[in-house]
Amino acid sequence: MTVNIALPKGRLADKTLALMKKAGILKEVTDAGRKLVFEDEGGAVRYFLVKPWDVPVYVERGVADIGVAGKDIITENTPDVYELLDLKMGKCRMCVCAGNGYVDRPGSKLRVATKFVNTAKSYYSSLGRGIEVIKLNGSIELAPLMNMSDVIVDLVETGTTLKENDMGVVTVIADISARLIANKASYRFKRDEIDKITSLLGELINENN
Ligand code: PRP
Repeated sequence: MTVNIALPKGRLADKTLALMKKAGILKEVTDAGRKLVFEDEGGAVRYFLVKPWDVPVYVERGVADIGVAGKDIITENTPDVYELLDLKMGKCRMCVCAGNGYVDRPGSKLRVATKFVNTAKSYYSSLGRGIEVIKLNGSIELAPLMNMSDVIVDLVETGTTLKENDMGVVTVIADISARLIANKASYRFKRDEIDKITSLLGELINENN
């Protein structure tokens, strides 16, 4: 049975495709161009490239049997899928960050700019701290720079973006990495195929880490 795989475009794309190829899951990785769906030779897998935030949507709805999604997105959107494997790539941290001169005023309502609304809400509710969430879609670091927010909840990878904008990490909320996820029904009906892919990836990851 053909296994349909949703893979993320963007930052993780090259690493994910290289990993899949090295593990022998994809035989041929062609230059993506504008093409969206790729049939791998032999018909064992079909893969498609989608926006990272959409990978869990395709997997949850069963259009993709498996997919590669960041733990940040999984935590934020809590899709009803199985998380099969930590791929140990795309490593970064979900952090509270602020301008270098930032001083918290405990008790005040904190203005938090983020793409990760649920993550921010649940983190601050665990602290019992009232916040006002400002949902943004990118360049989150700009919000405190322009005094639109007090802090941000965002991903930090190398720390370059923070450094170049005179900001720093206040608190690390969670370690993040890419995960292999599976549709729950697919995992029953294509168990052998999915287990095989998982173990091929698992072996490769153990070698590399
Ligand atoms: C992410 C994240 C930070 C930056 C962190 O943004 O939101 O802005 O990367 O990486 P660094 O620590 O290596 O500098 P991304 O580049 O994905 O784009 P965005 O700002 O549009 O979200």
